Amino acid sequence: MTNLDALRQTVKKETDEGLLHCVKQLPNHAPELRAAMEYALIAGGKRMRPLLVHLIGNALDIPKKDQQAISMAIECIHAYSLTHDDLPAMDDDDLRRGLPTCHIKFNEATAILAGDALQTLAFSILADAPMSEFAHTKRASLVSLLARASGYQGMCGGQAMDLASTGKTINIDELTLLHSLKTGALLKTCAEMVTLVAESLSVEHRQAFIRYAGFIGLAFQIQDDILDVEGDASTIGKPQGSDVELGKNTFPALLGMDQAKEVLTQLHHDALQALQGLPYNTESLAAFANLMVKRTS
Ligand code: IPE
Ligand code: IPE
Ligand code: MG
Ligand code: MG
Ligand code: MG
Repeated sequence: MTNLDALRQTVKKETDEGLLHCVKQLPNHAPELRAAMEYALIAGGKRMRPLLVHLIGNALDIPKKDQQAISMAIECIHAYSLTHDDLPAMDDDDLRRGLPTCHIKFNEATAILAGDALQTLAFSILADAPMSEFAHTKRASLVSLLARASGYQGMCGGQAMDLASTGKTINIDELTLLHSLKTGALLKTCAEMVTLVAESLSVEHRQAFIRYAGFIGLAFQIQDDILDVEGDASTIGKPQGSDVELGKNTFPALLGMDQAKEVLTQLHHDALQALQGLPYNTESLAAFANLMVKRTS
């Protein structure tokens, strides 16, 4: 097993346990909503964003509890984004992580509320979870970074562009912005947030980590587009061919599969390039970049 595989397993286990604990300790006045939050958060997530936080955090010796708080907050936003993305008003998908989507398992209103409550849970975690003394002084800035990456200037803005352009043709610059916002922003903020709590990191080195995560973020959505065409539902855990059926703008649809894969290769190269010259052990981050472009689920 490689170092990356071992860390991946640990991060998944610790993130799952931490998130489950957060939900379980909520009072039980709305059991259906609480169950839907748990369902949206827990089942089968790959925890790639927490893994990215831990890979950068470990390279910089960031205390574990800071890595954990940041990871859990980001994963709450991610789970909310998926729950709303699957709703009938958005992608109208029935399958997520190999299971019925939240609105199928529960109902639409509960899935909307579960997304809403997961979003605010993310900010409660950043405000309240145990953190080191140094990270404690950065809570407001962490909230600011996550809010920006999730809202109009990040995920929600990208999702709005996605919906507005569905069934229409847009150009490659517009699609690149769309993907960088709807998916890239949250992955990029993994690097922004965890490097913010590094006590002695130069501005230049911080920017290099963030640049790396920016390339990874865009690559992640392009690979998601590719898997929607070439993957199979049992491996990706969601319906295959959903993008074509809905008339979504994707890299394979706009450029053709070969050229979409070339863009992915270039982004992989750019991500590795961003790591060059960092005076930290970035071996596992290089392996993570490789995983991002080769993943099959
Ligand atoms: C899927 O994200 C949605 C995108 C942003 C492309 P993931 O592939 O990380 O989903 P899970 O959390 O592992 O299910
Ligand atoms: C979703 O993009 C991005 C989000 C912000 C959730 P997709 O719509 O392609 O994600 P999947 O394929 O449903 O996971
Ligand atoms: Mg979508
Ligand atoms: Mg979708
Ligand atoms: Mg997709």
